[in-house]
Amino acid sequence: MKVLVVYGSRLGATRGIAERIAARLEASGLDAALEAAEQVAELPACDAFVIGSGIYGQHWMKEAAALVRRNRAALSKSPVWLFSSGPVGRWASGHDPVEPKEVAGLRAAVGAKDHRVFAGALDRSSIDESNLSTIERFVTRKFMPEGDYRDWGRIDAWADGIARDLNRLRPS
Ligand SMILES: Cc1cc2nc3c(=O)[nH]c(=O)nc-3n(C[C@H](O)[C@H](O)[C@H](O)COP(=O)(O)O)c2cc1C
Repeated sequence: MKVLVVYGSRLGATRGIAERIAARLEASGLDAALEAAEQVAELPACDAFVIGSGIYGQHWMKEAAALVRRNRAALSKSPVWLFSSGPVGRWASGHDPVEPKEVAGLRAAVGAKDHRVFAGALDRSSIDESNLSTIERFVTRKFMPEGDYRDWGRIDAWADGIARDLNRLRPS
């Protein structure tokens, strides 16, 4: 079974999560490929899709959201899982995850099987502040503590659940 994992990632944290999910799916016997959202115009034929994005100002990245909307007809015929990578610092644990604003609509548009918000990561040295708006610069300096808060155990468990679901669908 061929699964495509697609990610929108501005600073690399979501790409790392997508790589981990793809590796986990491969390890369970699935054929997993990985693509950056901006590299994919039309989705190729696949048995399933996992699509994720970093969260910016409570939104998915435009490239990732647009990819889902553009391919909604194809995606709604296949099993799809969505994830977001965002909360850092004290928002990374002990808080109910806040879904990015468009996720409810994207889930409904493609009949996604699940959506998870995973804690993210932030490395200030990877940010070119001249690419940030004034508000983004303020938010980043004031509210975004540096560090890698990604919970690999949670990510692995989610990927393993996807693999179990897909392996059940596999022709024996
Ligand atoms: C300008 C800026 C705005 C952000 N806004 C949010 C947000 O609204 N909600 C959230 O949970 N995380 C937010 N974050 C944290 C990022 O989502 C987190 O660092 C994520 O893992 C980045 O993914 P990426 O490295 O794949 O781009 C923001 C980070 C920056 C730099």
